[in-house]
Amino acid sequence: MDQQPHPRENRLIVVSNRLPCVLEKEPAGNWRVVAGSGGLVTALHPVLRDRGGVWIGWSGAVEDPAEIAEVLRAHDRDVGYELRAVPINREEVERYYHGYSNEILWPLFHDLQSQCDFLPDYWHTYVKINRRFAEKVAADLRPSDFIWVHDYQLIDVAHHLRELGVTNRLAFFLHTPFPPPDIFLKLPEWHVLLRSLMAYDFVGVQTQRDRHNLVHCIRRLLKDAHVKAEGHLHRVTLDGRDSHVASFPIGIDFQDFAVAAAAPEVESMVQAIREHNRGSRLVLGVDRLDYTKGIPHRLRAFANLLERFPEVRGRVTLVQVVVPSRIGIPKYDALKVHIEQLVSEINGRYSSVDWIPVHYVFRSLGRDELLGYYRACHIALVTPLKDGMNLVCKEYCACSLEQDSVLILSQFAGAAAQLGRSALLVNPNDVEQMADAIYKAMRMPQADRRRRMRRLRRNVYEHDIHWWVNSFMRAVIDKELKDFPVLEEFVLPFDGQQWSRAVEE
Ligand code: UDP
Ligand code: G6P
Repeated sequence: MDQQPHPRENRLIVVSNRLPCVLEKEPAGNWRVVAGSGGLVTALHPVLRDRGGVWIGWSGAVEDPAEIAEVLRAHDRDVGYELRAVPINREEVERYYHGYSNEILWPLFHDLQSQCDFLPDYWHTYVKINRRFAEKVAADLRPSDFIWVHDYQLIDVAHHLRELGVTNRLAFFLHTPFPPPDIFLKLPEWHVLLRSLMAYDFVGVQTQRDRHNLVHCIRRLLKDAHVKAEGHLHRVTLDGRDSHVASFPIGIDFQDFAVAAAAPEVESMVQAIREHNRGSRLVLGVDRLDYTKGIPHRLRAFANLLERFPEVRGRVTLVQVVVPSRIGIPKYDALKVHIEQLVSEINGRYSSVDWIPVHYVFRSLGRDELLGYYRACHIALVTPLKDGMNLVCKEYCACSLEQDSVLILSQFAGAAAQLGRSALLVNPNDVEQMADAIYKAMRMPQADRRRRMRRLRRNVYEHDIHWWVNSFMRAVIDKELKDFPVLEEFVLPFDGQQWSRAVEE
């Protein structure tokens, strides 16, 4: 008979810069808990929700650590796992989060080295905060815990955990792309970070492109490392210990999106959106405010479509949702101004009495509203200049219940490796090609649309978030998610549906 693991064994400890929720202090002094945005949170929440565990991260607040711990404790039961906050003060946020993470690593890993601001102070604070995360993990650790650290903000955590004497197996997953050696070398601290990465037992990246780049950096830049290909893994031996590198394309909770998209509230939203835009084909863009997403290029492509194909004027509307992100970083603030200028130029030039070409939304959407747009829009325009994976395009496919919509996808999104054959692939720098793709999507025969969307949905369904986490864990520790017990004290009080609903209630 199979022995069930004791509930206290095999805890899954997820460590990421952000917790899945953000705490905001309201003027009246009470705390508001809102869902975090971005692909990392969307992907990892269902993993922990289904089996329980611990999520260690920053709450987004810069004050009152004791109060925050209390608010989070009260919230554990709702989300189904334990939330533990790492405090970060205002000055540290400036240097570690805005600075090293988002003004150096983020642009560099997206091949945008000209956007980097290499200030030495940033690095020192990055190391200090990575140490703090490591100390938080080590403070309550059991030998059987599996520690899984995420993303570029926390590359250095393993090195500190090792210094603190932690011998547990450590895994890391990078949600962004990994750059090739000539770009990685621009980073003044490249040698420290590359060696820190190799302090993990296992490093997962999104695509073979990223794995190739990482392995290439190790081979070229770490002369004392020995690299050996073993099937789809690469074994790296450095300083007498082994680390493995492999690619695992992250997925979404397909079932969850597909079921939620069929709910009556979403259905009414779809009716309302379509009714309001009668006679227009709807093209959708949903992105965090980020220069990697190529939003200005996309707006220019839409203007190009209206200019070169006047017959579509009045018959197509671009719905562009921009979710506020990294407010306070000057490049993000400037991007917002630039986008809004372009939107008003297009609307000013082409609007008529009964049609506005760009429907622009700048805020975080509620779950039903997001799913409503996914379902109501006939075409999705997902055109990042570079993206680790991009989950929006996968969510769009999962919500295409009528299997009758078209995905236009950048060849530089990680998702292109999986979905490129059935999407219309474009180069986001080629404005005319993108305009042509929208035109083609508008005129695509229904049979073609259905054939492509069916194949897209099958791919997203087969490589969902559970497939991702299970294949990752099998590779790292020869276990699956089911080997991590559901902790009794974290039984969900609601039907296991939505994080955002849990937050709102
Ligand atoms: N999203 C969100 N709030 C919104 C709209 C979208 O949190 O108002 C989510 C969306 O559902 C998706 C994520 O943000 O899961 C974006 O992930 P993606 O991988 O596409 O890009 P990232 O923001 O991680 O760079
Ligand atoms: C991307 C990154 C994540 C990050 C998310 C949102 O998905 O890979 O690490 O959490 O963007 O960005 P933010 O800076 O708000 O956490």
